[in-house]
Amino acid sequence: CGTSSLIPMTPKKPQHWLQVVGHAGSFYVGDYGTLLKRFCKREQQCYVRLMKDILRPFVPAYHGVVQRDKQDYNMMDNLLTHFNTPAIMDCKMGSRTYLEEELHLARERPQPRNDMFEKMVAVDPEAPTVQERAQQAVLKTRYMQWRETLSSTTTLGFRIEGFRKANDECHTNFKRTKSREQVGEVLDNFVESSTHIVWSYLRQLKQLRQVLEASDFFRTHEVVGSSLLFVHDWTGRTGVWMIDFGKTVALPSHLTLDHRTPWVEGNREDGYLWGLDNLIDILANMLPLT
Ligand SMILES: Nc1ncnc2c1ncn2[C@@H]1O[C@H](COP(=O)(O)OP(=O)(O)OP(=O)(O)O)[C@@H](O)[C@H]1O
Ligand SMILES: [Mg+2]
Repeated sequence: CGTSSLIPMTPKKPQHWLQVVGHAGSFYVGDYGTLLKRFCKREQQCYVRLMKDILRPFVPAYHGVVQRDKQDYNMMDNLLTHFNTPAIMDCKMGSRTYLEEELHLARERPQPRNDMFEKMVAVDPEAPTVQERAQQAVLKTRYMQWRETLSSTTTLGFRIEGFRKANDECHTNFKRTKSREQVGEVLDNFVESSTHIVWSYLRQLKQLRQVLEASDFFRTHEVVGSSLLFVHDWTGRTGVWMIDFGKTVALPSHLTLDHRTPWVEGNREDGYLWGLDNLIDILANMLPLT
């Protein structure tokens, strides 16, 4: 889909790789344009299934488990390989970023947490209730649900985790970027107001949406905390891929999701497609009317 006429060679030498967000120590750059991510069983299972699903072109190719310094890693394609000093953005999809099972676990042993209280106050001194203030602590479930309402996660079904323009530093301060207008401004900054780039991303997101709507993998999984990775460069090449399946879990066999129905605890809905609809809408509104 790129407009560059260069035929990309697969390099043997470790490639350039930049990370926007996530745990810094979790990655290694591998040979032949690969990337090693710290092993996670759940993620491995997803990638194995995804390699047999129609979503395959929209995720990094998966190459199995490898060891380095006695640590296991999932080996996958480095998505930046064929770009030239790319700009990168990570959008976390869905209307919640914790699994239902995390909520159950947090509820089993309800411990008031002072560290979470401190984090809450640091963002919004008004957020804790009178009781929470007296205890100087909040329950983890309460903290998890409060945190989602700060960003656009609950209102739009996705949030911008961070971006990095070519030769620039990372911008990750979007925890309180919430409204359509605010999100639109960040997106416009990321693409540097290029209608060509917006248009290419839109085309790819609409393709992705069609494939998601038909995918067996997607229908049968709760997809939480997964991101869309946006990559473009000055040649006009663009790409969007789904990454990060550490919190994507298979549903019990009688259950499927449409990913648009609002979440009520127990229905497992994740709002992924609702978020993608909103993202597509916001990007479309950045184009001049025709
Ligand atoms: N296949 C890939 N190719 C290129 N870059 C990648 C790839 N996978 C991940 N990245 C980069 O690493 C960042 C973090 O990736 P990922 O979300 O998978 O890690 P994580 O440690 O699970 O993060 P977190 O748990 O904080 O969401 C992404 O935002 C992206 O910049
Ligand atoms: Mg992530």
